Amino acid sequence: AKGPYRHFMHKEIHEQPRAVTDTLRGRVDFERGRVTLEEVPLSPEAARRISRIVIVACGTSYYAGLVGKFYFESLARIPTEVDYGSEFRYRDPVLDADTVVLAISQSGETVDTLAAMERAREGSARLWSIVNVIGSQAHRMADACILMHAGPEIGVASSKAFTASIVDELLLALRLAELRGTLSPEEIRTHVRELARLPDLLGRVLDREAEVVEVARAFYRYEDFLYLGRGLLYPIALEGALKLKELSYIHAEGYPAGEMKHGPIALIDERMPTVALALQDPVTYEKMLSQMEQVRARRGQVIALITDGDRAASARADAVLSVPHAPRWLQPAVAVVPLQLLAYHIAVLRGCDVDQPRNLAKSVTVE
Ligand code: M6R
Repeated sequence: AKGPYRHFMHKEIHEQPRAVTDTLRGRVDFERGRVTLEEVPLSPEAARRISRIVIVACGTSYYAGLVGKFYFESLARIPTEVDYGSEFRYRDPVLDADTVVLAISQSGETVDTLAAMERAREGSARLWSIVNVIGSQAHRMADACILMHAGPEIGVASSKAFTASIVDELLLALRLAELRGTLSPEEIRTHVRELARLPDLLGRVLDREAEVVEVARAFYRYEDFLYLGRGLLYPIALEGALKLKELSYIHAEGYPAGEMKHGPIALIDERMPTVALALQDPVTYEKMLSQMEQVRARRGQVIALITDGDRAASARADAVLSVPHAPRWLQPAVAVVPLQLLAYHIAVLRGCDVDQPRNLAKSVTVE
Protein backbone atom coordinates (compact mmCIF):
# COMPACT_ATOMS: atom_id res chain seq x y z
CA ALA A 1 0.00 0.00 0.00
CA LYS A 2 1.76 3.07 -1.31
CA GLY A 3 -1.18 5.34 -0.57
CA PRO A 4 -0.84 8.59 -2.50
CA TYR A 5 2.83 7.89 -3.28
CA ARG A 6 4.20 6.56 -6.55
CA HIS A 7 6.98 4.64 -4.86
CA PHE A 8 7.54 2.96 -1.50
CA MET A 9 10.76 4.87 -1.09
CA HIS A 10 8.94 8.19 -1.39
CA LYS A 11 6.38 7.05 1.15
CA GLU A 12 9.10 5.89 3.52
CA ILE A 13 10.97 9.19 3.26
CA HIS A 14 7.73 10.91 4.26
CA GLU A 15 7.17 8.51 7.13
CA GLN A 16 10.26 9.72 8.96
CA PRO A 17 8.53 12.09 11.40
CA ARG A 18 6.24 9.24 12.40
CA ALA A 19 9.13 6.76 12.61
CA VAL A 20 10.97 9.08 14.99
CA THR A 21 7.87 9.61 17.13
CA ASP A 22 7.49 5.83 17.42
CA THR A 23 11.19 5.43 18.18
CA LEU A 24 10.95 7.86 21.08
CA ARG A 25 7.68 6.54 22.44
CA GLY A 26 8.09 4.53 25.64
CA ARG A 27 11.84 5.19 25.78
CA VAL A 28 11.82 8.79 26.86
CA ASP A 29 10.20 10.27 29.93
CA PHE A 30 9.41 13.72 28.58
CA GLU A 31 7.97 14.93 31.89
CA ARG A 32 11.12 14.24 33.83
CA GLY A 33 13.49 14.79 30.91
CA ARG A 34 15.10 11.34 31.03
CA VAL A 35 15.83 8.45 28.70
CA THR A 36 14.63 5.12 30.09
CA LEU A 37 15.50 2.61 27.34
CA GLU A 38 14.69 -0.50 29.34
CA GLU A 39 15.82 -2.72 26.46
CA VAL A 40 19.40 -2.24 27.61
CA PRO A 41 19.39 -3.16 31.30
CA LEU A 42 22.55 -1.82 32.94
CA SER A 43 23.64 -0.79 36.40
CA PRO A 44 25.72 2.36 36.78
CA GLU A 45 28.72 0.14 37.64
CA ALA A 46 28.26 -1.99 34.52
CA ALA A 47 27.92 1.17 32.41
CA ARG A 48 31.11 2.59 33.90
CA ARG A 49 33.00 -0.59 33.15
CA ILE A 50 32.43 -0.29 29.39
CA SER A 51 35.83 0.59 27.98
CA ARG A 52 35.01 0.63 24.28
CA ILE A 53 32.18 0.35 21.76
CA VAL A 54 32.73 -1.29 18.40
CA ILE A 55 29.91 -0.69 15.93
CA VAL A 56 29.57 -3.24 13.13
CA ALA A 57 27.24 -2.73 10.17
CA CYS A 58 27.05 -2.49 6.37
CA GLY A 59 25.94 0.16 3.87
CA THR A 60 23.59 2.79 5.21
CA SER A 61 23.62 1.19 8.66
CA TYR A 62 27.40 1.64 8.71
CA TYR A 63 26.94 5.36 8.05
CA ALA A 64 24.43 5.52 10.91
CA GLY A 65 27.23 3.98 12.99
CA LEU A 66 29.60 6.78 11.99
CA VAL A 67 27.07 9.28 13.38
CA GLY A 68 26.76 7.19 16.55
CA LYS A 69 30.51 7.39 17.14
CA PHE A 70 30.09 11.13 17.78
CA TYR A 71 27.29 10.49 20.27
CA PHE A 72 29.01 7.74 22.25
CA GLU A 73 32.30 9.60 22.42
CA SER A 74 31.05 13.13 23.10
CA LEU A 75 28.09 12.38 25.35
CA ALA A 76 29.05 9.14 27.12
CA ARG A 77 32.85 9.52 26.75
CA ILE A 78 33.29 5.95 25.49
CA PRO A 79 35.95 5.36 22.81
CA THR A 80 34.07 4.10 19.76
CA GLU A 81 35.11 2.46 16.51
CA VAL A 82 32.96 1.70 13.50
CA ASP A 83 33.70 -1.19 11.21
CA TYR A 84 32.16 -2.84 8.17
CA GLY A 85 30.77 -6.27 9.01
CA SER A 86 32.64 -7.69 6.03
CA GLU A 87 35.98 -6.39 7.34
CA PHE A 88 35.51 -7.05 11.03
CA ARG A 89 34.58 -10.68 10.49
CA TYR A 90 37.91 -11.49 8.86
CA ARG A 91 40.15 -9.56 11.20
CA ASP A 92 41.49 -10.71 14.50
CA PRO A 93 39.85 -7.98 16.57
CA VAL A 94 40.89 -7.32 20.16
CA LEU A 95 37.80 -7.93 22.28
CA ASP A 96 37.06 -8.51 25.94
CA ALA A 97 34.18 -8.47 28.39
CA ASP A 98 34.38 -4.67 28.77
CA THR A 99 33.91 -4.11 25.04
CA VAL A 100 30.42 -3.66 23.66
CA VAL A 101 29.92 -4.74 20.07
CA LEU A 102 26.89 -2.92 18.70
CA ALA A 103 25.45 -4.27 15.46
CA ILE A 104 23.15 -2.04 13.42
CA SER A 105 20.92 -3.63 10.80
CA GLN A 106 17.56 -2.73 9.31
CA SER A 107 16.81 -6.28 8.17
CA GLY A 108 18.67 -8.06 10.95
CA GLU A 109 19.67 -10.64 8.32
CA THR A 110 22.72 -9.13 6.63
CA VAL A 111 25.15 -12.01 6.56
CA ASP A 112 28.33 -9.96 7.09
CA THR A 113 26.85 -8.19 10.10
CA LEU A 114 25.70 -11.50 11.57
CA ALA A 115 29.17 -12.99 11.08
CA ALA A 116 30.67 -9.96 12.84
CA MET A 117 28.26 -10.58 15.72
CA GLU A 118 29.42 -14.17 15.94
CA ARG A 119 33.00 -12.96 16.05
CA ALA A 120 32.05 -10.67 18.95
CA ARG A 121 30.49 -13.59 20.75
CA GLU A 122 33.67 -15.68 20.35
CA GLY A 123 35.68 -12.77 21.74
CA SER A 124 33.41 -12.67 24.83
CA ALA A 125 32.35 -9.06 24.16
CA ARG A 126 28.90 -7.87 25.14
CA LEU A 127 26.65 -8.00 22.14
CA TRP A 128 23.97 -5.38 21.53
CA SER A 129 22.00 -4.62 18.40
CA ILE A 130 19.78 -1.97 16.84
CA VAL A 131 17.41 -3.73 14.45
CA ASN A 132 14.20 -2.95 12.59
CA VAL A 133 12.82 -6.40 11.80
CA ILE A 134 11.35 -8.10 14.85
CA GLY A 135 12.43 -11.71 15.30
CA SER A 136 15.31 -11.40 12.82
CA GLN A 137 18.65 -13.06 13.56
CA ALA A 138 20.33 -9.88 14.77
CA HIS A 139 17.38 -9.32 17.09
CA ARG A 140 17.56 -12.79 18.57
CA MET A 141 21.33 -13.16 18.75
CA ALA A 142 22.05 -10.07 20.83
CA ASP A 143 22.16 -9.85 24.63
CA ALA A 144 20.18 -6.62 24.32
CA CYS A 145 18.34 -5.29 21.27
CA ILE A 146 16.85 -1.88 20.58
CA LEU A 147 14.10 -2.21 17.99
CA MET A 148 13.95 0.72 15.58
CA HIS A 149 10.16 1.04 15.39
CA ALA A 150 10.54 2.45 11.87
CA GLY A 151 7.88 0.11 10.49
CA PRO A 152 8.39 -2.11 7.42
CA GLU A 153 10.86 -0.67 4.92
CA ILE A 154 10.09 -1.94 1.42
CA GLY A 155 12.19 0.33 -0.82
CA VAL A 156 15.56 -1.31 -1.40
CA ALA A 157 17.31 1.96 -0.57
CA SER A 158 17.11 2.60 3.13
CA SER A 159 15.65 5.88 4.40
CA LYS A 160 13.53 5.81 7.55
CA ALA A 161 15.62 3.02 9.12
CA PHE A 162 18.61 5.36 8.90
CA THR A 163 16.95 8.16 10.86
CA ALA A 164 15.51 5.68 13.35
CA SER A 165 18.98 4.16 13.93
CA ILE A 166 20.47 7.58 14.54
CA VAL A 167 17.79 8.38 17.10
CA ASP A 168 18.27 5.02 18.81
CA GLU A 169 22.00 5.65 19.07
CA LEU A 170 21.38 9.08 20.56
CA LEU A 171 19.00 7.56 23.13
CA LEU A 172 21.55 4.90 24.01
CA ALA A 173 24.32 7.49 24.34
CA LEU A 174 22.15 9.63 26.63
CA ARG A 175 21.23 6.63 28.74
CA LEU A 176 24.92 5.66 29.06
CA ALA A 177 25.81 9.29 29.81
CA GLU A 178 23.33 9.33 32.67
CA LEU A 179 24.59 6.05 34.13
CA ARG A 180 28.25 7.04 33.78
CA GLY A 181 27.64 10.56 35.05
CA THR A 182 29.23 12.18 31.99
CA LEU A 183 26.26 14.54 31.52
CA SER A 184 24.35 16.30 34.26
CA PRO A 185 20.60 15.70 34.66
CA GLU A 186 20.06 19.24 33.38
CA GLU A 187 22.11 18.56 30.23
CA ILE A 188 20.14 15.39 29.60
CA ARG A 189 16.88 17.29 30.03
CA THR A 190 18.03 19.75 27.36
CA HIS A 191 18.79 16.88 24.94
CA VAL A 192 15.41 15.30 25.62
CA ARG A 193 13.62 18.59 25.00
CA GLU A 194 15.44 18.93 21.69
CA LEU A 195 14.69 15.34 20.69
CA ALA A 196 11.00 15.93 21.31
CA ARG A 197 11.06 18.56 18.55
CA LEU A 198 12.69 16.29 15.96
CA PRO A 199 9.51 14.89 14.35
CA ASP A 200 8.24 18.43 13.82
CA LEU A 201 11.59 19.54 12.38
CA LEU A 202 11.60 16.63 9.93
CA GLY A 203 8.05 17.50 8.91
CA ARG A 204 9.13 21.03 8.14
CA VAL A 205 12.00 19.75 6.00
CA LEU A 206 9.57 17.54 4.05
CA ASP A 207 7.32 20.53 3.44
CA ARG A 208 10.08 21.99 1.27
CA GLU A 209 10.11 19.17 -1.24
CA ALA A 210 9.32 21.60 -4.10
CA GLU A 211 12.71 23.24 -3.55
CA VAL A 212 14.41 19.85 -3.93
CA VAL A 213 12.47 19.06 -7.11
CA GLU A 214 13.72 22.29 -8.63
CA VAL A 215 17.34 21.42 -7.85
CA ALA A 216 16.82 17.88 -9.19
CA ARG A 217 15.50 19.32 -12.47
CA ALA A 218 18.54 21.55 -12.82
CA PHE A 219 21.10 18.82 -12.12
CA TYR A 220 19.72 15.40 -13.12
CA ARG A 221 21.77 15.15 -16.30
CA TYR A 222 25.18 15.28 -14.62
CA GLU A 223 27.11 12.02 -14.35
CA ASP A 224 29.41 12.70 -11.38
CA PHE A 225 28.73 14.33 -8.03
CA LEU A 226 30.87 15.08 -5.03
CA TYR A 227 29.30 15.30 -1.56
CA LEU A 228 31.26 17.15 1.11
CA GLY A 229 30.63 17.30 4.83
CA ARG A 230 32.57 17.68 8.05
CA GLY A 231 32.10 16.39 11.56
CA LEU A 232 28.60 15.06 12.20
CA LEU A 233 27.70 15.81 8.59
CA TYR A 234 30.52 13.80 7.06
CA PRO A 235 28.57 10.52 7.42
CA ILE A 236 25.62 12.33 5.84
CA ALA A 237 27.76 13.22 2.83
CA LEU A 238 28.55 9.50 2.50
CA GLU A 239 24.89 8.56 2.84
CA GLY A 240 23.76 11.23 0.35
CA ALA A 241 26.27 9.92 -2.20
CA LEU A 242 25.20 6.31 -1.61
CA LYS A 243 21.54 7.21 -2.15
CA LEU A 244 22.36 8.89 -5.46
CA LYS A 245 24.45 5.93 -6.64
CA GLU A 246 21.82 3.37 -5.71
CA LEU A 247 18.78 5.14 -7.03
CA SER A 248 20.02 6.93 -10.14
CA TYR A 249 23.21 5.05 -11.09
CA ILE A 250 25.11 8.33 -11.06
CA HIS A 251 28.68 8.20 -9.85
CA ALA A 252 28.86 10.05 -6.53
CA GLU A 253 31.55 10.28 -3.89
CA GLY A 254 31.19 11.37 -0.31
CA TYR A 255 34.27 12.97 1.18
CA PRO A 256 35.28 14.69 4.41
CA ALA A 257 35.61 18.30 3.26
CA GLY A 258 39.02 18.71 4.89
CA GLU A 259 40.45 15.95 2.68
CA MET A 260 39.66 17.80 -0.56
CA LYS A 261 43.06 19.37 -0.82
CA HIS A 262 44.72 15.98 -0.44
CA GLY A 263 43.50 14.75 -3.81
CA PRO A 264 39.86 14.99 -4.83
CA ILE A 265 40.07 18.69 -5.62
CA ALA A 266 41.80 17.60 -8.83
CA LEU A 267 38.44 16.24 -10.01
CA ILE A 268 36.59 19.54 -9.83
CA ASP A 269 35.43 21.12 -13.06
CA GLU A 270 32.18 22.37 -14.56
CA ARG A 271 30.98 18.79 -15.14
CA MET A 272 31.10 17.71 -11.51
CA PRO A 273 28.68 19.46 -9.13
CA THR A 274 29.45 19.45 -5.41
CA VAL A 275 26.79 19.02 -2.76
CA ALA A 276 28.17 20.95 0.22
CA LEU A 277 26.65 20.31 3.64
CA ALA A 278 26.99 23.77 5.15
CA LEU A 279 24.70 23.87 8.17
CA GLN A 280 25.64 26.34 10.86
CA ASP A 281 27.84 24.79 13.51
CA PRO A 282 30.50 26.36 15.71
CA VAL A 283 33.22 24.00 14.51
CA THR A 284 32.66 23.18 10.86
CA TYR A 285 30.66 25.97 9.27
CA GLU A 286 33.31 28.59 8.44
CA LYS A 287 35.54 25.92 6.96
CA MET A 288 32.74 24.68 4.70
CA LEU A 289 32.22 28.19 3.38
CA SER A 290 35.83 28.44 2.27
CA GLN A 291 35.61 24.96 0.75
CA MET A 292 32.66 26.11 -1.35
CA GLU A 293 34.69 29.07 -2.59
CA GLN A 294 37.47 26.73 -3.59
CA VAL A 295 35.09 24.56 -5.60
CA ARG A 296 33.69 27.57 -7.42
CA ALA A 297 37.15 28.97 -8.09
CA ARG A 298 37.68 25.79 -10.15
CA ARG A 299 34.41 26.30 -12.06
CA GLY A 300 32.59 23.63 -10.06
CA GLN A 301 28.93 24.23 -9.27
CA VAL A 302 27.86 24.13 -5.64
CA ILE A 303 24.54 22.83 -4.36
CA ALA A 304 24.57 23.93 -0.74
CA LEU A 305 22.53 22.53 2.11
CA ILE A 306 22.09 25.56 4.34
CA THR A 307 20.31 26.75 7.47
CA ASP A 308 17.30 28.96 6.73
CA GLY A 309 18.15 32.52 5.88
CA ASP A 310 21.91 31.94 5.74
CA ARG A 311 22.98 34.58 3.23
CA ALA A 312 26.71 33.93 3.57
CA ALA A 313 26.24 30.31 2.48
CA SER A 314 23.70 30.98 -0.27
CA ALA A 315 25.98 33.67 -1.74
CA ARG A 316 28.59 30.96 -2.27
CA ALA A 317 26.22 28.49 -3.95
CA ASP A 318 24.66 27.96 -7.38
CA ALA A 319 21.64 26.19 -5.90
CA VAL A 320 20.34 25.88 -2.39
CA LEU A 321 18.49 23.33 -0.27
CA SER A 322 17.48 24.82 3.06
CA VAL A 323 16.45 23.34 6.39
CA PRO A 324 15.23 24.97 9.60
CA HIS A 325 17.80 25.62 12.31
CA ALA A 326 18.42 22.35 14.20
CA PRO A 327 20.34 21.60 17.38
CA ARG A 328 23.81 20.26 16.62
CA TRP A 329 23.21 16.61 17.56
CA LEU A 330 20.07 16.43 15.45
CA GLN A 331 21.62 17.92 12.32
CA PRO A 332 22.46 14.52 10.77
CA ALA A 333 18.80 13.43 10.90
CA VAL A 334 17.60 16.75 9.52
CA ALA A 335 20.26 17.02 6.81
CA VAL A 336 19.79 13.56 5.37
CA VAL A 337 16.16 14.15 4.36
CA PRO A 338 16.77 16.66 1.53
CA LEU A 339 19.55 14.39 0.24
CA GLN A 340 17.22 11.38 0.18
CA LEU A 341 14.67 13.48 -1.70
CA LEU A 342 17.30 14.80 -4.12
CA ALA A 343 18.44 11.27 -5.01
CA TYR A 344 14.81 10.17 -5.31
CA HIS A 345 13.75 12.97 -7.65
CA ILE A 346 16.88 12.72 -9.80
CA ALA A 347 16.22 8.97 -10.17
CA VAL A 348 12.59 9.59 -11.14
CA LEU A 349 13.65 12.19 -13.74
CA ARG A 350 16.13 9.69 -15.18
CA GLY A 351 13.44 7.03 -15.39
CA CYS A 352 15.09 4.65 -12.92
CA ASP A 353 13.36 1.90 -10.99
CA VAL A 354 13.44 3.59 -7.59
CA ASP A 355 12.09 0.80 -5.42
CA GLN A 356 14.06 -2.00 -7.10
CA PRO A 357 17.37 -0.58 -8.33
CA ARG A 358 19.31 -2.91 -10.60
CA ASN A 359 21.73 -5.38 -9.00
CA LEU A 360 20.53 -4.68 -5.44
CA ALA A 361 18.62 -6.72 -2.88
CA LYS A 362 16.87 -5.43 0.22
CA SER A 363 18.71 -7.74 2.48
CA VAL A 364 22.08 -9.15 1.56
CA THR A 365 22.08 -12.70 2.86
CA VAL A 366 25.05 -13.87 0.82
CA GLU A 367 28.67 -12.87 1.16
O1 M6R B 1 19.56 -4.54 6.63
P1 M6R B 1 20.88 -3.84 6.87
O2 M6R B 1 20.74 -2.54 7.56
O3 M6R B 1 21.87 -4.73 7.57
O4 M6R B 1 21.46 -3.56 5.43
C1 M6R B 1 22.72 -3.03 5.23
C2 M6R B 1 22.91 -2.60 3.81
O5 M6R B 1 22.80 -3.70 2.93
C3 M6R B 1 21.92 -1.52 3.39
O6 M6R B 1 21.95 -0.42 4.24
C4 M6R B 1 22.18 -1.07 1.96
O7 M6R B 1 23.39 -0.36 1.88
C5 M6R B 1 21.00 -0.24 1.44
N1 M6R B 1 20.74 -0.59 0.08
C6 M6R B 1 21.25 1.23 1.56
O8 M6R B 1 20.27 2.01 1.00
